[in-house]
Amino acid sequence: MAAKSETNGATAHPVSSKVPAVAHPLAENADEIASNINYHAQFSPHFSPFKFEPEQAYYATAESVRDRLVQQWNETYLHFHKVDPKQTYYLSMEYLQGRALTNAIGNLNIQDAYAGALSKFGHELEEIAEQEKDAALGNGGLGRLASCFLDSMATLNLPAWGYGLRYRYGLFKQRITKEGQEETAEDWIEKFSPWEVVRHDIMFPVRFFGSVEVNPDGSRKWVGGEVVQALAYDVPIPGYKTKNTNSLRLWEAKASAKDFNLFQFNDGQYESAAALHSRAHQICAVLYPGDATENGKLLRLKQQFFLCSASLQDIIIRFKERRHGKESWKWSEFPSKVAVQLNDTHPTLAIPELMRLLLDEEGLGWDEAWDVTTRTIAYTNHTVLPEALEKWSQTVMWKLLPRHMEIIEEIDKRFIALIQATRLDLESKLPSIRILDNNPQKPVVRMANLCVVSAHAVNGVAQLHSDILKSELFADYVSIWPTKFQNKTNGITPRRWLRFCSPELSNIITKWLKTDSWVTNLDLLTGLRQFADNEDLQAEWVSAKMANKQRLVQYILQVTGVSIDPNSLFDIQVKRIHEYKRQLLNILGAIYRYKILKEISPEERKKTTPRTIMIGGKAFATYTNAKRIVRLVNDVGAVVNNDPEVNDYLKVVFVPNYNVSVAEILIPGSELSQHISTAGMEASGTSNMKFALNGCLIIGTLDGANVEIREEIGEENFFLFGATADEVPRLRKERENGLFKPDPQFEEAKQFIRSGVFGSYDYNPLLESLEGNSGYGRGDYFLVGYDFCTYMEAQAKVDEVYRNRKRWAKMSILSTAGSGKFSSDRTISQYAKEIWNIEECRIP
Ligand code: GLC
Repeated sequence: MAAKSETNGATAHPVSSKVPAVAHPLAENADEIASNINYHAQFSPHFSPFKFEPEQAYYATAESVRDRLVQQWNETYLHFHKVDPKQTYYLSMEYLQGRALTNAIGNLNIQDAYAGALSKFGHELEEIAEQEKDAALGNGGLGRLASCFLDSMATLNLPAWGYGLRYRYGLFKQRITKEGQEETAEDWIEKFSPWEVVRHDIMFPVRFFGSVEVNPDGSRKWVGGEVVQALAYDVPIPGYKTKNTNSLRLWEAKASAKDFNLFQFNDGQYESAAALHSRAHQICAVLYPGDATENGKLLRLKQQFFLCSASLQDIIIRFKERRHGKESWKWSEFPSKVAVQLNDTHPTLAIPELMRLLLDEEGLGWDEAWDVTTRTIAYTNHTVLPEALEKWSQTVMWKLLPRHMEIIEEIDKRFIALIQATRLDLESKLPSIRILDNNPQKPVVRMANLCVVSAHAVNGVAQLHSDILKSELFADYVSIWPTKFQNKTNGITPRRWLRFCSPELSNIITKWLKTDSWVTNLDLLTGLRQFADNEDLQAEWVSAKMANKQRLVQYILQVTGVSIDPNSLFDIQVKRIHEYKRQLLNILGAIYRYKILKEISPEERKKTTPRTIMIGGKAFATYTNAKRIVRLVNDVGAVVNNDPEVNDYLKVVFVPNYNVSVAEILIPGSELSQHISTAGMEASGTSNMKFALNGCLIIGTLDGANVEIREEIGEENFFLFGATADEVPRLRKERENGLFKPDPQFEEAKQFIRSGVFGSYDYNPLLESLEGNSGYGRGDYFLVGYDFCTYMEAQAKVDEVYRNRKRWAKMSILSTAGSGKFSSDRTISQYAKEIWNIEECRIP
């Protein structure tokens, strides 16, 4: 694989190649592209020009792709500037972009030319692409959703940008040791990122702390405190087969030279001389700084405000620029030019910040500012988990953002007045539905309430989740503003998640549908249904899946040293490790399977369906039970995989450091995937969509988007089990009170762990969480014990169906055929029409 085309086995380098080094920013063919790559290798001074190993080749290749993107990008910006359409700004604390090179080359539709160009240097495109580090500026589904949305916005030619933070260290790198998970900082921009362009001309001051000054005319102004600068880094977001190239603008925090105390420095007080520089530096240092301490909380709040303030200042300046030449304009036009979408409550401070800018900087009155703000802002909720519904201490907020707290108090006061004037029936509910919780022990601001009161649209991310929001979490608000609440079922980009990650399967789909338009019109996949029984398609399908499985076999061997059998059933669960997602149910099932395999005779073993269970995902560093689960999976794997009696029939693998790029290898090679959260707890899930699109069958509960996936692909193609969301509250009570007796198999599986088969680590604290008695453990809140029995039945059904390979192939085809709804193009079109009111703005 490695590039060794020069004499003496020396690595190829462009200087000695026959390719000229000439700038060709708009290169079309392999020769010109090669020249442009060579130009970057020699004249962009990141590395010595005398080497051209894969790493250098990657940077030079990426820079050459960027040339073209920059050109399209400028055209897009100018076009938007001229047309002045209404534009959406997506505010998100997280983006899980993954790698950009394959995606950009794919969206530009120049894979072949790039492969040809690189081959002139003795390199393969795939190998070069693997040099890229994932941009992991996010945690899980919420961040990846934001990235899929950006891809769809550009592909649909929508005037829509993303705003986020440029974390120095994104999501941690996970290493697996004998003790389980170990976290280290992931340096995605260690060398530099060829995908970002720093905009030294775009910088805004962001203030923290200070106080509020009242002017003689009664107007108020936030003054003092400390001011850091937000500097823009822009990442180009190309659409698929369109020139439109949008932006993801990431802010970095800086202090300026005047904040550097030269006098102190020369006096040897180095730290205090650069104190503000170091505090500014902390703001974007890491994604999710631990918030167990007061300092950690303050830092996280600073991050949120930093994103909101810089983005809104930028949005307002652009709005004003685009008013130029017009005789007069009014602030009331703002919402017809600007839509701001809050990705969960993390950017809620955009609400009081927009109010502050309008009131204090632009001089609007309250009513006008409120009207503009509410018509501009919309909010997406991504979870009903109580611990994820943000509440900020009022004390911390008054200290950090005194003017915003005044504004929030006023919004709260006016909300109470509204209720008292129009809805006396809700007065008794005010303590829970108002924005401020003034509990003297711990006064807080409830961010979700602030969002619901202030936004003109509030949406959930799958039908079931939106229904739960309406009937439970936000029920009282629904009775006040019935039309405010919507559903926008999540989606995923079919470019990254099928077209590029599984070219084999994509080619087959294109061949049978006689068109590749499905890549932008995913509903066309239903055309595969008519061929689901066709033996030729089935054979091609199975062989493409096998090629993907083989690739996965290699990968697993490389990262874990475990060799897995490509003929076994590949069963995958990858997502953040969380008790509600119930990786514990999966591993207990695996343990029970192992126990049975040990008990039966060798003859009987031969009749079972061989399975490889792969589990991957990161546990938040301070989430003890999640880390215990990671360890348990690894401990079980270590025993099972080395047990010669059993390891032809079962392997259990923990896939380390799960991220977007790893997903791109796992998902195409999957056959069964587990989406087994306690019903009502997973708002949507999006990996379920990625798996289904790749012809992988799902075993799952009626939760999140599973419900809709099952509807679309047909219930006969979905392995369903478990309690339903409306049963959960009652079952929890029964379980807590010890009224429900779990299946003996469940007790046996737990007992097997306790017996020490999987090592001496004390798993009792973890197992206690599964005890159905609230006096002991945590009452099995996630109902693992309750669902275990039907889960095992569904797994037995899986084993049976898999033995009939033709039937499985048909179900797999039908799964892909039914996945059209889950394109993020559909989701984004709905946001555009039903919330943002924006339209396509294609460059001519
Ligand atoms: C959160 C939710 C998940 C959802 C994602 C995107 O991560 O937990 O269910 O799919 O957001 O909306």
